[in-house]
Amino acid sequence: MTALNTTFYDLVLTVHILAVVVAFGVVFAYPIIDSQFRRSMPGNLAALHRLHVLLGQRLITPAMTVVLVAGVYLALDRWRLDDPWIAATLAILIVIFGLSGAVLTPTDRRLAELAERDAAAGGKRSADYRREERKAAIFGSLALLLVIVAIFLMTAKPGL
Ligand code: HEM
Repeated sequence: MTALNTTFYDLVLTVHILAVVVAFGVVFAYPIIDSQFRRSMPGNLAALHRLHVLLGQRLITPAMTVVLVAGVYLALDRWRLDDPWIAATLAILIVIFGLSGAVLTPTDRRLAELAERDAAAGGKRSADYRREERKAAIFGSLALLLVIVAIFLMTAKPGL
């Protein structure tokens, strides 16, 4: 295919994939960012959790919205929304939106408050902080797993 044959569909597909990279790429880097932050700034973990909230609001959620809108366009143009690989990925994306809004962002907000409270009380991480931290790790890992499943469904298109 030459550049001139590029269709609007191809452009939307490019936007869709770019938005996937922007939305989820940074999340795969969180384990490294977090452990570096914990090592170099143990007294300021509130800043780490506020960074997560900021990235969620300014980068991840807007990019996921672009993934959704572009994906729906692609599906309606050449496929069907009830094709199993599309319906399953749509469900996954909705679950990720839910996890992000109902669990991950509120947990990071709470972690920021707890980190500030613990820092003011001498710096030792409290049981409350560790409990919320575990929750963030479990649900964060679940969200990453769902992204991997979504990428598999989109590329392998099982059931086609
Ligand atoms: C977590 C969410 C999603 C991820 C990670 C994702 C990822 C991808 C990737 C990597 C591709 C390129 C596949 C290829 O060219 O082989 C793709 C294509 C596509 N995606 Fe998604 N997507 C997501 C959500 C959605 C949603 C919600 C829809 C529709 C409602 C959708 C519809 C499509 C369609 C129709 C294609 C084009 C397939 C083709 O023309 O070969 N995607 N997606």
